[in-house]
Amino acid sequence: MKILGIETSCDETSAAVVEVIQDDIKVLSNLINSQVDIHAQYGGVVPEVAARQHSKNIIPIIKQALIDADLNFTDINLIAVTAGPGLVGSLMVGLETAKTIALVNNIPLIETNHLLGHLWSWQLKPLKEIGNLRIKFPYLGLIVSGGHTELILVEDFGKYKILGRTIDDAVGEAFDKVAKILGLTYPGGPEISKHAANGKNDRFILPRPMTKNKNLNFSFAGLKTAVLYKDKEVKNKDKQYINDMSASFETAVIDTLIQKLKIAVTNYPIKIIAISGGVSANKKLRTEIKSVFAKNNIEVKIPEIIYTGDNAAMIALAGYLMVKNKRLKQTKNFLTLSAQPNMKIV
Ligand code: KG4
Ligand code: ZN
Repeated sequence: MKILGIETSCDETSAAVVEVIQDDIKVLSNLINSQVDIHAQYGGVVPEVAARQHSKNIIPIIKQALIDADLNFTDINLIAVTAGPGLVGSLMVGLETAKTIALVNNIPLIETNHLLGHLWSWQLKPLKEIGNLRIKFPYLGLIVSGGHTELILVEDFGKYKILGRTIDDAVGEAFDKVAKILGLTYPGGPEISKHAANGKNDRFILPRPMTKNKNLNFSFAGLKTAVLYKDKEVKNKDKQYINDMSASFETAVIDTLIQKLKIAVTNYPIKIIAISGGVSANKKLRTEIKSVFAKNNIEVKIPEIIYTGDNAAMIALAGYLMVKNKRLKQTKNFLTLSAQPNMKIV
């Protein structure tokens, strides 16, 4: 089965073709047109600008994804498109394009939840390499992106229990806001991580929010404010200061995530933790969380870097899993689908 994935929920226009044969999965193409350079000049994503860029890029990128996969529309068995959550104007571009292609070429179309894409993205191997979809349940999914911080118990395909989420800022959002305080460019995550590599992570004592609390919710707004207060006290904002504050903040975030995951694994009998979303590209996060949980015999799965941020290959996979497991109506009457900016995981 060959699935065309389409993703336009935020500031990446992406199209991918994924092939599934029994339980094997292969990404045949995965193209991502990032708009970060455009939005960087505004210090964050401007929804109207994002939608316009998607409109400009969507058709060429879908065409190229098919060329790269060496396929035509007639070879595609299913289209999976992100219907939410995300920016409404951006979502509409992907969704309406997908409907048009599906209608004209008579291809089934399924709406996909962006977060489910992230949740399963650790299954994808690099281009043209074969991965497998034989999964041991339950596993613990942690999505850490610019818009979301969600801890999910995955009991089976399509059986999700939300254990916790952020009550204010998402982790990626906190990285972006702290980067702004430090005068670094958007998106802040990669910048903070780069500076942190040369910094002392114990120079500033920052809070580990809500870790005393046994529930599994997160909060990052206070941590960002703590950085802001310390920043105001520092007179000499030289390079070493930027590096040290970056390292102190990055460590506080990773520590917080680890402490919450530790609470979760004591409450639920899981052997796998899967971390996904843009922030899971963070090098220190990848190595530290793996090494901490290896001691408890818990395997930590993290997607290939290319699948940590928004991409259409993960959307194709999530759409396939929905159809395979009959979790979502395979939309016969797909023309009624609409963008759902606050789409929930079901
Ligand atoms: O998943 P994603 O591409 O988009 C959303 O769905 O939100 O995540 C983007 C977020 C941004 O906030 C960005 O700063 C963060 O991921 N990010 C990182 C790193 N690379 C990207 N955060 C920390 N360290 C990184 N290396
Ligand atoms: Zn995302």
